Amino acid sequence: MKVVVVGSGGREHAICDALAEEGHQVVATPGNPGIAACAEVTSDPAESLEADLFVVGPEAPLVDGLADRLRIQGKLVFGPGRDGAMLEGSKHFMKRVAAEAKLPTAAFAAFEESAAALEYLESMAPPYVIKTDGLAAGKGVLVTADLDEAKADVRAKLSGSAFGEAGRRVVIEEGMSGPEVSLLAVVDGHRAVALRPAADHKRLLDGDRGPNTGGMGAYSPVPFFGSDLEARAMAEIVEPAVARLVEMGIDYRGVLYAGLMLTPDGPKLVEFNVRFGDPEAQVVLPALGPGLGDFLAQAAAGQVGEPPAVRHGAAATVVMAAPGYPESPRSGGVITGLDAAGALPGVKVFHAGTRLGQSGELLVAGGRVLSVTGFSRSMPDALARAYAAIAEIHFEGAQFRSDIGARALAGGRPTEQA
Ligand code: AMP
Ligand code: GLY
Repeated sequence: MKVVVVGSGGREHAICDALAEEGHQVVATPGNPGIAACAEVTSDPAESLEADLFVVGPEAPLVDGLADRLRIQGKLVFGPGRDGAMLEGSKHFMKRVAAEAKLPTAAFAAFEESAAALEYLESMAPPYVIKTDGLAAGKGVLVTADLDEAKADVRAKLSGSAFGEAGRRVVIEEGMSGPEVSLLAVVDGHRAVALRPAADHKRLLDGDRGPNTGGMGAYSPVPFFGSDLEARAMAEIVEPAVARLVEMGIDYRGVLYAGLMLTPDGPKLVEFNVRFGDPEAQVVLPALGPGLGDFLAQAAAGQVGEPPAVRHGAAATVVMAAPGYPESPRSGGVITGLDAAGALPGVKVFHAGTRLGQSGELLVAGGRVLSVTGFSRSMPDALARAYAAIAEIHFEGAQFRSDIGARALAGGRPTEQA
């Protein structure tokens, strides 16, 4: 099968790598230097390409209606149309659907005026959770116990000085607590099939400190999210959400990613995303045996089957980010050591923000630069492999967490730091 993959990050590298490994002809637009090793890369827009299947990786083109434009051309597309993508494109829309489908989630209110928002904040107990309504690459959320910081954040977001138009409406939520899990379901318009759950690390620094990021590492499976909790989350969150989308006349075909918090009252919904997680895809997809291409094509055609069997007992990925990430990442550093890292057994290095320099050297070109995945039968070994590979890779000011998977190793209990 010929497959066009839209996007240029670590997630798209993992998608392309898995499809190429099972023998598909893969074209990526725009791709990146790592993707170029397993796929043809082109800067031509997806609408001008022909293929048996189109897989749209990131949320921004989905919210922008790319899947609709391709479907109008008669193409087979994995990824929701603009209507469904609003589950990620607007936190307010997502919270409305969650309320209508009676999903367990934090209470919330939405504001466009700062006076009312500030008054609401004062009426709440900490922690304060403030979100920009629109897309902000995972960085538009503040969780703080400090009321003054919360107020300053509301003012900055509503004035448009942070996140521009995406922040002109804010959602303020009740704070929840508990470990987080990413449950990625593949949906064919009616039916949802779960992939093996993963856990992400959203904060920049060890011990879950520092600012929120797009994700600093991930692992799968999640020992503290067993099949009973997964079944409960599917029955209480994912399936009612899909049923509500059907009622709304939304034909949702693609990944519905439920970001969950495992609270003392059970799994609760933090957010929906409308695509594979990044970096969750870098641990979920390479752990699958062959069959991903057919599985995605079947969902795109409205007939999802069973997912490919899992072939690796455990996978863990560690993100290497640019200096200054997430506030102001600095590009241009030279990256070395990838060949040595990639040659280690049970390791895959996925490119995210990289580009080639004039003499063919690999350069830092984005906030999250590389996602280094280790696989094995056991989680300690998968993590050891990822960190052994990280030790081979160098660029100036590289930031990465040294405690990815610590909670998994501790059986789900918060570690000393977390
Ligand atoms: P989101 O972009 O909505 O996934 O939020 C980013 C991160 O902020 C989540 O992964 C959580 O760690 C945290 N967060 C979001 N909403 C809440 C909430 N209601 N209570 C506590 N933490 C939250
Ligand atoms: N890893 C979080 C996300 O993909 O949104």
